[in-house]
Amino acid sequence: MHRVVPLKVHYYGTPVVLVSSTNPDGTTNLAPMSSAWWLGQNAMLGLGARSRTTQNLLRTGEAVLNLASADLVDQVDRLALLTGEPELSPHKRETGYRYEPRKFEAAGLTPEPSDLVAPHRVAECPIQLECRVSGHYPITNETSNAHAIHVEVLRAHVADHVRLLGTDHVDPQAWDPLIMKFCDFFGGGENIHPSRLAEGWQLPRAASAV
Ligand SMILES: Cc1cc2nc3c(=O)[nH]c(=O)nc-3n(C[C@H](O)[C@H](O)[C@H](O)COP(=O)(O)O)c2cc1C
Repeated sequence: MHRVVPLKVHYYGTPVVLVSSTNPDGTTNLAPMSSAWWLGQNAMLGLGARSRTTQNLLRTGEAVLNLASADLVDQVDRLALLTGEPELSPHKRETGYRYEPRKFEAAGLTPEPSDLVAPHRVAECPIQLECRVSGHYPITNETSNAHAIHVEVLRAHVADHVRLLGTDHVDPQAWDPLIMKFCDFFGGGENIHPSRLAEGWQLPRAASAV
């Protein structure tokens, strides 16, 4: 039997992307997101209008999309309630966010220079995509104040251990993406780590959740 329920969240399970972008002072901001979908050499990113990442992308037109593998869940979770934006919205303050200008250090991740864009890549991420912004569209209604940001992939860096030997193809058996499903972290189909985001949103959890 189905029931009609007012679902608060529609995160059905999508890979976590760490988005690198350039702050006004030239440093690299880093933010986890998972409302991303892909079409050819394009991605569409759903990002809150007030996040530092959105402001950086719209100002500079550049980003690196670092695809996080499941073994990076601890580092990703450390970024969960941090923002590079000094002015916190009331919603972010209530959720438990704090301002952090040094996200790489806070997460325990290593920056490495990109080839074509200014924001640094995340060395630990097996797939890193240097991108330029090609367009953006507001998603503004009673439940959302966000932008859909269209980026084009300019250059892809792929670590050897997730490449199909002797090809330019990612080996789907070797690539184990970190998945965010209803604000919880999954890898290889299993719930692998507690989630600060789920806690901040005060979501009901199953007794078996980690
Ligand atoms: C796993 C995970 C996925 C997230 N997905 C999104 C997302 O798709 N879109 C979004 O706007 N925020 C998302 N967030 C929240 C952002 O990370 C948050 O708004 C953060 O403040 C952005 O950092 P910034 O303000 O420094 O850009 C996600 C957070 C986590 C931990």
